[in-house]
Amino acid sequence: MALRTAVIPAAGMGTRFLPATKAVPKELMPIFDTPVLQLVIDEAVAAGCEHVVVVSSRAKTAIDAYLAPSDDVVRRVRDSGRGDLADRLARLGRDVRVTVVYQDRPRGLGHAVACARGAVGDGHFAVLLPDEIMGDASLLADLASVAGRTGGTTVALKEVPMAETSSYGVVTLGDRVGERGERPVTGVVEKPAPGTAPSNLVIIGRYVLAPSMFDLLDRVEPAPNGEIYLTEALLAGARDGNVFGMVTDVDRFDTGTPMGWLQAAIELVARRTDVGPAFDEWLGARAPRGR
Ligand code: G1P
Repeated sequence: MALRTAVIPAAGMGTRFLPATKAVPKELMPIFDTPVLQLVIDEAVAAGCEHVVVVSSRAKTAIDAYLAPSDDVVRRVRDSGRGDLADRLARLGRDVRVTVVYQDRPRGLGHAVACARGAVGDGHFAVLLPDEIMGDASLLADLASVAGRTGGTTVALKEVPMAETSSYGVVTLGDRVGERGERPVTGVVEKPAPGTAPSNLVIIGRYVLAPSMFDLLDRVEPAPNGEIYLTEALLAGARDGNVFGMVTDVDRFDTGTPMGWLQAAIELVARRTDVGPAFDEWLGARAPRGR
């Protein structure tokens, strides 16, 4: 199955990253020189997506500014002799079609995905949560291949310590193992109270959803906090046997918090071939400070 469209929910207020996010959307916090949003778009493009739908908020005008092509900036950078950077800037918003849709109020992840319905069209589509950065872009392609074979929805899962399960959607899986190690999802609970999680397998922020998920989302009742949970639509799909989980051990960084963002920046800069060696040298020479 060719995965053509990716949805990136980016309307959240970023309260875990205040005060920085008072003015700068968390999706634009840079990992070295590249906004988190760009890394996630690059991941979608690497998996074959040609169209990215960013679900934003009208208050986050910096996201529109980032995604809008700017001939003026490209020209100035080219005139200053930095041709490579000019080429890179010129590709933003051009090597992939980007549509921005707006979520009027923060009403949960399920509502954000539903806002993208008109822009997504008919086929399966990816959902990438931009406060998570994956160390490996092949995860999305693997999810798409399972979705193509089964015709269903696929979610990426990771094992976490039991104490962390209350921050996530937690799944239970059936025993049948598919060609790529996927197993049917038999149950999902969104952020279970401590001590009540049915397993330590949590949904990480990469999904390939079947188009039928939109109809299921329409039927989800809001949670007591007013949010429409994507997890509830997944549960409805799982009851029909149409949702599969793939357990992965891919590196995953939570860039929605200052510490996770810093760790992601350090790790990803160290892996870059252009600046990584100089960074490692500096880090290695840095004397530990006495406290
Ligand atoms: C969302 C989902 C949750 C999932 C998590 C992954 O929660 O609702 O099921 O496990 O993303 O990061 P959020 O982190 O947006 O509260």
